[in-house]
Amino acid sequence: MKTLIFNGSPRLRGDTMSLINAIIPKLEGECKLVNVCTSKIAPCIDCRYCWSHNGCAFIDEMQNIYKYIEECDNIIIASPIYFGELTGQLLSVTSRLQTYFCARHFRKETPITKPKRGAVLLVSGSDTDMSNAYETASGLLKEINCTEILEPVMFKNTGEGRPLESEGAAEKLTKLVDFMNGI
Ligand SMILES: Cc1cc2nc3c(=O)[nH]c(=O)nc-3n(C[C@H](O)[C@H](O)[C@H](O)COP(=O)(O)O)c2cc1C
Repeated sequence: MKTLIFNGSPRLRGDTMSLINAIIPKLEGECKLVNVCTSKIAPCIDCRYCWSHNGCAFIDEMQNIYKYIEECDNIIIASPIYFGELTGQLLSVTSRLQTYFCARHFRKETPITKPKRGAVLLVSGSDTDMSNAYETASGLLKEINCTEILEPVMFKNTGEGRPLESEGAAEKLTKLVDFMNGI
């Protein structure tokens, strides 16, 4: 089993990472973690190379991630909420998933044949509405052939304490891990 995790937080010892670190050892098989804020991945510039070619004109760290996306079983998008949305850094990297939309829409190809399970882990400072972020993340997951997507796994009010110590944290993470492990 292979799981790809996108971490949208720039805080590598922050709230989102503390949750990711708690689930990685419990996921079966191997994991690839993409810290979008430290990776060298250019945003899509709508050059339209992929309207007529497979892949992406930019040769950077995203090339390995494309390979992993195509072969993995599970994908998790984990992000803090910034102004009601996924972080800009996460959206910048995931803009490169446009190649898959173009493959299907313009080239009439099926770029990712393997179906996957997807999950969205969201973290916010207050009791904020996360529905926009969940919709955005689910849309991205569908773009990369996540045919089953778990309901949002949400950790709110990090301004009041650490998410791992919040009420119900263990149950929420177990639900996420079980879904990814196919239980
Ligand atoms: C630019 C910015 C925008 C934010 N916007 C929101 C928001 O709209 N709602 C909210 O509840 N928290 C918001 N927060 C707080 C973060 O979601 C919160 O601190 C989160 O726990 C950070 O997670 P991290 O430690 O994984 O980066 C924002 C923080 C930043 C830096």
